[in-house]
Amino acid sequence: MNRILIGAQWGDEGKGKVIDLLARKSDVIVRYQGGNNAGHTVRFDNKTYILHLIPSGILHKGKVCVIGNGVVLDPEAFFEEVKMLRSKGINVTGRLFISEQAHLILPYHRVLDCLREERMTRKNDGQAIGTTKRGIGPCYADKMARLGIRVGDLANLSFFKERLMQVHKEKNEVLRKIYGHPGLSFKSVYRFCMKYRTKLSEFSRDTPSYLFEAARKGKSILFEGAQGTLLDVDHGTYPYVTSSNASVGGAIAGSGISPTVIDRVIGVVKAYTTRVGEGPFPSQFPEKLMRQIQTKGEEFGATTGRPRRCGWFDAVIARHSVRINGLDEMAVMKLDVLSGLPEVKIAVAYRLDGKTYRDFPPSSCNFSRCEPVYETLKGWKEDISEVRRWKDLPVNARKYLKRMETLMETPIHMVSVGSKRSQTVMV
Ligand code: IMP
Repeated sequence: MNRILIGAQWGDEGKGKVIDLLARKSDVIVRYQGGNNAGHTVRFDNKTYILHLIPSGILHKGKVCVIGNGVVLDPEAFFEEVKMLRSKGINVTGRLFISEQAHLILPYHRVLDCLREERMTRKNDGQAIGTTKRGIGPCYADKMARLGIRVGDLANLSFFKERLMQVHKEKNEVLRKIYGHPGLSFKSVYRFCMKYRTKLSEFSRDTPSYLFEAARKGKSILFEGAQGTLLDVDHGTYPYVTSSNASVGGAIAGSGISPTVIDRVIGVVKAYTTRVGEGPFPSQFPEKLMRQIQTKGEEFGATTGRPRRCGWFDAVIARHSVRINGLDEMAVMKLDVLSGLPEVKIAVAYRLDGKTYRDFPPSSCNFSRCEPVYETLKGWKEDISEVRRWKDLPVNARKYLKRMETLMETPIHMVSVGSKRSQTVMV
């Protein structure tokens, strides 16, 4: 069984826990887009791990993990994570592969990401994205501009040096002329690359061929998405998005696997909505409720520590994700966080300039001006963190889930009521 797991909101849906459950049933786990902007929190053997780059499947003994060609890889972040895993007794040798075609995040990408965000924040013209400042956008921009450096390029030293010289020259011009930055010396960037060259070669591999063979042999492959569909560069709330395809197409292009080998596409939503960084968020809570849910749900970014904005469940964006990704089933996370609220709301449509949109509005509409149309349901008081069966959930919680299911037009197969693996209701 080959599955793709997709975040169906603005990221941070709680994918880490679902990946952990599905990784048990898989042989190979693949990351296919994004970079160390992601943060997957997994509780494993009573320890909490936060993984940014390496697939969370690595925590499971004997599973093979692949960082696909669609990922942008910061070698420094990668080896920090390898070190952290090894320090906890997790062996990665021989079962963690990086695509030779994955692009490298180099020091100038990080500098450019920071400088651009600072400049846009200073100008206060609403154009800052609130990025994670990990160099993700500038690295993908170089990939598309055919100015990128790939993991495999390090193999041929003279080719690599010549290429880096060309690219570095252009990057320094941008740094100096646009941002008034002194630029980075060639020596420092080259030294950075050389520090990781040999170590990276131990992990790099022709991963599309590896995955083709794995699929042919009937191995079970799990494609673990990072971020969420509304952060997808094509299908999200552009320009307030990340720079990769966080929706289903990213899994195909970003791993080199054929769509015909995929059996199921699974979506993950939180029982409410969160968003970190800038950008419109129609169903955002009023301040007091936001603080309450932020604290109860521990809604602070796993990568940057920033508080996540919180809001009611938005069925318009969830249904958009269902359609874009062809989701077969949904996992609903953090239902326990809503316990104790006298009522719960769901955004079922948006209103804009006298028109009602039940589906995600066309991109010509100004999404930031959309007003949510809410449906209000009764809340539940009971603590549900010990519930393990559907029929033991409070009746109002079941009604809430059933309404979500109808609005998403997709069955809910799993409900999470706490961070532990056992705190799960299979439906
Ligand atoms: P970037 O990916 O660092 O370029 O940031 C672009 C936008 O995506 C910002 O709003 C980030 O906060 C958001 N973002 C990136 N990665 C994640 C994630 O893993 N979870 C939630 N938001 C993210």
